[in-house]
Amino acid sequence: MTTAVANASTGGNGALTAVAASARQVVKAYGVGETRVVALDRVDVDIARGAFTAIMGPSGSGKSTLMHCLAGLDTVTEGHISIGEHEITRLKDKKLTQLRRDRIGFIFQAFNLLPTLNAYENITLPMDIAGRKPDRAWVEQVIGTVGLADRLTHRPNQLSGGQQQGAPPSGSWGRVAVARALAARPEIIFGDEPTGNLDSRAGAELLGFLRRSVDELGQTIVMVTHDPVAAAYADRVLYLADGRLVDEMHRPTAEQVLDRMRRFVGDASHAQQPHTPESHAPGHGYPPRSVDDPRSVSGPYSPDDPHIAAPGHHGTSGRAS
Ligand SMILES: Nc1ncnc2c1ncn2[C@@H]1O[C@H](COP(=O)(O)OP(=O)(O)O)[C@@H](O)[C@H]1O
Ligand SMILES: [Mg+2]
Repeated sequence: MTTAVANASTGGNGALTAVAASARQVVKAYGVGETRVVALDRVDVDIARGAFTAIMGPSGSGKSTLMHCLAGLDTVTEGHISIGEHEITRLKDKKLTQLRRDRIGFIFQAFNLLPTLNAYENITLPMDIAGRKPDRAWVEQVIGTVGLADRLTHRPNQLSGGQQQGAPPSGSWGRVAVARALAARPEIIFGDEPTGNLDSRAGAELLGFLRRSVDELGQTIVMVTHDPVAAAYADRVLYLADGRLVDEMHRPTAEQVLDRMRRFVGDASHAQQPHTPESHAPGHGYPPRSVDDPRSVSGPYSPDDPHIAAPGHHGTSGRAS
């Protein structure tokens, strides 16, 4: 099954939820001939507006590629991507850049904050670059939501005590990164493993803010993760395997997500030939991950894995309700 096109479902207020982004029969292939890798294999998906969607799957299953294609950061080989009513696969570079800038927010794992700018300046930077005037009332609401009101003039490395230069970003960086993504009121925010560099407490905090931005501000969020606890914050989890959408879950618990991920381990051990021929193309920058690699969910899926917090590890059930 490669289809996860949403049936019109009802949101919290009972209204029909619209589609914020969609993929139709999307194929993404890298390379040619022997080194050709099909990262996405006819993916159909609708991303509901005002909902929090997580994308999960084993390492190399195409999660980042799907996110990049949906966000217009990468081109598709075949098929169509739309953001709202705009089909972005038809857009020329300049229009696409503009649409990305005006309608899409990003939270990357490294957060990409500028250490020389204070929190407020980092938050409004994308709008400054775009020559847009921030909507002050909105920006203040966002800043309040992530609890940064009294720290706006701090620089990222002053935000939490004792942080060393070059150390992984702390939870406070995460708050600034979330606020920055929300400040421009994008139609949709994409995050690729946004909690990947955070300890479990800071990760839970960031996920809590993402959840609140959906519940209280009506934000649409798509997040790639391999952490079942992180996925449990989402309204819907899409599962990719070998570039195909193979399953989905609504309002899952971390335990349910973990169980589903474990089944991928079973599937993989029965497979004769992995579909993603990473090993066929040495030197293309995507080294195959061994089963011993803690990042690989194709390998043993251990709750001791530092990258995969055990359910309940964040000290929260994953959702407020
Ligand atoms: N720029 C690229 N060049 C070649 N192969 C790539 C590139 N990006 C991704 N791939 C391959 O596409 C497949 C899916 O990758 P990716 O989307 O990064 O997976 P995931 O995010 O689920 O780990 C993998 O086999 C990966 O090696
Ligand atoms: Mg990835």
